[in-house]
Amino acid sequence: MVLRTISEVREAVRQARAAGQSIGFVPTMGAFHDGHLSLMRRAREENDIVVVSLFVNPTQFAPYEDLSTYPRDEENDARAAAAKGVEILFVPESSEIYPDGFATSIHVAGLTEVLDGASRGAHHFDSVATVVTKLFGIVRPDVAYFGQKDAQQVLVVRRVVRDLDLDVRIEVCPIVRETDGLAMSSRNVHLDPEARRQATALNRALDAAQAMHGGGERDSARILRAAQRVLDDAGIHPEYLELRDAETLDPVTSTRRDALLAVAAHIGTTRLIDNHLLKASS
Ligand code: PAF
Repeated sequence: MVLRTISEVREAVRQARAAGQSIGFVPTMGAFHDGHLSLMRRAREENDIVVVSLFVNPTQFAPYEDLSTYPRDEENDARAAAAKGVEILFVPESSEIYPDGFATSIHVAGLTEVLDGASRGAHHFDSVATVVTKLFGIVRPDVAYFGQKDAQQVLVVRRVVRDLDLDVRIEVCPIVRETDGLAMSSRNVHLDPEARRQATALNRALDAAQAMHGGGERDSARILRAAQRVLDDAGIHPEYLELRDAETLDPVTSTRRDALLAVAAHIGTTRLIDNHLLKASS
């Protein structure tokens, strides 16, 4: 069932709750791929009712970014969500989420200024934190599901939930990859065949670093060089390629603690991100 207004979603959720049903929630910007579907599958397995939001949140795009060309296919998305057993697809207009006079913004200090925050501007994660908090307020889920592909987003959302004592559990699902390793992304549809080939170097670079770490290397600079070599060979100049503490996102000089190895790059005109978690124990 596609619902477009906050009051409709509130009423549907109120009825489900009155019947003692648990609510699983997957916030998305649509153009579903297997990554989104894996979140819905997990939500379906673990809850009585699954709510998915489809809202291309305009405020989290910088003026120079791809808001106007961001892939949109509501009809297909509605079919795919229904096939996964999603009860409610919430597709609000922008004015429903941001009525005239909307003036609130949530800022998570410390986690939002680095990596994608540095590349895209601090507004990006402020906007994500704000819209996710608003969606939590509308849906009031027991559990919300996010993909590890947006590792920094996951940390930001977890921190909002902790700091504001929001009554929702956050579950994180693994990155879903194409057979050649490319992380699934709605933006992959913009890659032409040459860019599509080049894009596989992102995961190969992370794999090379992971292999080095797995072999016992703990020096961040050497691990990063292994990844950088693969990117160089593929002619990719990353926006960033960094190793940071997996919880705080502080820079690290060694991988003796769990570290997030994150990369962002423009492949052709498409900006892609990917990451691997380097576990201290591996
Ligand atoms: O990951 C996304 O698709 C978006 O950032 C989210 C969480 C739906 C907020 O707009």
